[in-house]
Amino acid sequence: MNHQDTNNNPHHPNRRRFLGACAKWCAGFAAMWFPVSAFGCANKKQCKPTEDNIEGPYYRGGAPWKTHLVPKGEGGVPLEISGVVYAADCKTPLANCLVDVWHADAKGSYDNDGVDDPPKQTTKYRGRMRTNAKGEYRYTTVVPGRYLNGPTYRPAHIHYKVEAKGHEPLTTQLYFAGDPYIKGDAFVRASLVISLYSHGKGKKGVFNIVLAKKQ
Ligand SMILES: [Fe+2]
Repeated sequence: MNHQDTNNNPHHPNRRRFLGACAKWCAGFAAMWFPVSAFGCANKKQCKPTEDNIEGPYYRGGAPWKTHLVPKGEGGVPLEISGVVYAADCKTPLANCLVDVWHADAKGSYDNDGVDDPPKQTTKYRGRMRTNAKGEYRYTTVVPGRYLNGPTYRPAHIHYKVEAKGHEPLTTQLYFAGDPYIKGDAFVRASLVISLYSHGKGKKGVFNIVLAKKQ
């Protein structure tokens, strides 16, 4: 039985898994700044809130407070993601924001995935953290694997929920440039794709976030 990431069925026993691929570094500001080329002002930038993206079927509330998401004994390509959460003006950092992230392991499996492979624990590759006084967050994990969504693989991605007082809560996903499955995925948004660069034996990237002001 295949699954669609949009439905609420967490079971998809015919998934195949493998590691996601990554490309080299460029700034993660794609998440917050967009060229206004459509208006003939290619050199000017426009400030917009970070785009939302589907939650998918694997969210689990109450994740542990931690910034290293890799369980003991598990591996993959080390990955460090950092960024700043900004207010809607794209300039004011938001302190004490809740950043809740979750993703598949290096083989493309979630810890609450599948009826034929019941999870032995419930906190793998999930973590909550808060931004510091400068609006900064940072966590370490491994590059997520891809998983089948219907007939095609979803590109490697990390799910986010971000909340801050006075702002609209954001549910979104982070993707990585160079993933060959980005092109065929219905959910990817260009503004949510960042590049990764080499960092020791692993990868590193920046994903800045802009929250919309509460209506
Ligand atoms: Fe997912």
